[in-house]
Amino acid sequence: MTRLALKHNAINLSQGFPDFDTPEPVKEAAVQAIQNGLNQYAITWGYAPLREKLAELYTGRLGWAVHPDKHVTVTCGVSEGIITAVQSILNPGDEILILEPAHDNFRPSAHIANAVPVPVALEAPDYRLNVTKLRAAITLKTKAMLLNTPHNPTGRVFDAEEIAGVIEVVLENDLVLITDEIYDRILYDGRIHQSPGSLPQLKDRTITIGGLGKTFAMTGWRLGYVIAPEQFAKGVRTLHDFTTICAATPLQAAATAALSLPESFFEQTTRAYHQRRALMMEILTNVGFQANVPQGAYYIMADYSQLPVPQVSLTPTEFAHFMAAEVGVAVVPGDSFYSLDGYGRSHIRFAYPKKLTTLEQAGERLMKLSA
Ligand SMILES: Cc1ncc(COP(=O)(O)O)c(C=O)c1O
Repeated sequence: MTRLALKHNAINLSQGFPDFDTPEPVKEAAVQAIQNGLNQYAITWGYAPLREKLAELYTGRLGWAVHPDKHVTVTCGVSEGIITAVQSILNPGDEILILEPAHDNFRPSAHIANAVPVPVALEAPDYRLNVTKLRAAITLKTKAMLLNTPHNPTGRVFDAEEIAGVIEVVLENDLVLITDEIYDRILYDGRIHQSPGSLPQLKDRTITIGGLGKTFAMTGWRLGYVIAPEQFAKGVRTLHDFTTICAATPLQAAATAALSLPESFFEQTTRAYHQRRALMMEILTNVGFQANVPQGAYYIMADYSQLPVPQVSLTPTEFAHFMAAEVGVAVVPGDSFYSLDGYGRSHIRFAYPKKLTTLEQAGERLMKLSA
């Protein structure tokens, strides 16, 4: 969709990356790291000061003593974290529960392990996690569940009741829980992120994955990390070593600076995301889309079926092509987030980690759809 946006000179609200820049002190720290000669391999599981910083952060967050030398692995993005986590715990033929709609590397991560991704639908319009459905998907081969919260593409933050359901299913079936928490710092309306791995029942069976790309507007730096109890960390580290050796050393040094930014940076980021969310919701509502207000992350799944244009009968893929080519705004087809048939119909996903001026321009173009 980004390639299509470039082809049609469309405003790119498809792929989830910011059009504003990485914080200056973080860029400066990367330049300094390169100038200071941090240009060779880091220790495979991560540049030591970054692992120490992550261990400190996650000891506080998970409530157990995260050790930099045992439990932390710095990866080339959350994508690599997911692939290595899934591959390290699943054998060929094992099954892993994946909530759909899902980020596009979740299913391939299972396929790469010769394992079987088992989809469980979150249904529009509220996209709540349904424990009965989750339980119904369990077989003797189910070994793990992959959970992303705050959630792409729905903007959901799973609440205590939904997480209680996950705990039940995980414990009843002796599963490993892999969490993708890449949007942990993009939350709205005073919400505070709670890592599922901090819950006492899940502590020993959860692999927690996070990343820096979204929080610090540096998706191109490819930095993520896996925090895992030792029995899982070993496999993750082995796979990471043999696939990528290490993430870019000077960028890991700069990531240490990013994670040390003052609280004011996170407050300012949160304020800015509230403004972007408000503007995007206002635009979409005025145009005639139906959509839920995101609770976290920076995406909106919007239903186009009520727009006053003939193209509402198009499939999401056709509609997304029409949007890029004729409206000049690139989006992602809603059904592309599902492998299950019949879901995501009449939906497209908007990503809004953009300057307000970009969103305003997109808003002007979208008005073509309102009459
Ligand atoms: C839920 C989720 N997980 C993982 C990723 C990929 O993260 P990274 O760029 O750190 O590999 C994304 C990117 O959009 C995402 O939305």
